[in-house]
Amino acid sequence: MITSSAEFGTDCAVDDYLTVDPMLLLQQWLPSPYTPPALMSLATSGRDGYPRVRHVLLSEADDTAVYFHTDSRSSKVAELAEHPRAAIALAWPGVGRQIVAHGDVRLAPDDELRDAYGKRTRYLQLLAWLNDDESVALSADERRRRWAEFDTSNPKLEQPSTWTGFAIDLTEITFWRGDPDGPSQRTRFRRDGDAWTSEVLPG
Ligand SMILES: Cc1cc2nc3c(=O)[nH]c(=O)nc-3n(C[C@H](O)[C@H](O)[C@H](O)COP(=O)(O)O)c2cc1C
Repeated sequence: MITSSAEFGTDCAVDDYLTVDPMLLLQQWLPSPYTPPALMSLATSGRDGYPRVRHVLLSEADDTAVYFHTDSRSSKVAELAEHPRAAIALAWPGVGRQIVAHGDVRLAPDDELRDAYGKRTRYLQLLAWLNDDESVALSADERRRRWAEFDTSNPKLEQPSTWTGFAIDLTEITFWRGDPDGPSQRTRFRRDGDAWTSEVLPG
């Protein structure tokens, strides 16, 4: 039940809802230290005008941006090259929370890409190497055989050339809180230069 628990984990004080730095609050709401990383819906603009959405891991968040990582050959990368804007949504129904946000997308710096790959689980490091068109064309048995062989012969992996990642510099963030004793509350923050404006909304 989304509003049955008073346990909201780490949150800001009620009096600070409108004045808190939303990027700090976002980091407080994420599982710490992102292990396992939070799963977020990531929406981009399709080339045909239809929105596209899928789930990715939120690898990291800092003072301005959230980061995700992906394969440079993926559709989302082509979409972001044309329209470098994205929207995200994260929900924790068990504690009555949701974050929706959007912003401007830029390529993550090289050192961030390297760090993020190093922090991925072994399985995800392998997947970044072995999940391509060539693999898709193989039988399941052959894919597993190649996976096992690659795993054994590469005990330590560096990022593949297809590994990439993006920062989304958020320009609007809306926090939704359930309340076991009353209506839910949304607080919306809009970036205005270096500052944020905020308002409380119903719904
Ligand atoms: C639990 C889960 C985590 C995922 N994490 C990522 C991720 O961090 N990066 C990624 O590129 N795809 C991830 N995927 C796969 C994407 O949802 C998607 O299928 C893939 O990136 C291709 O998307 P595209 O064709 O829209 O570019 C994940 C899928 C699931 C179910």
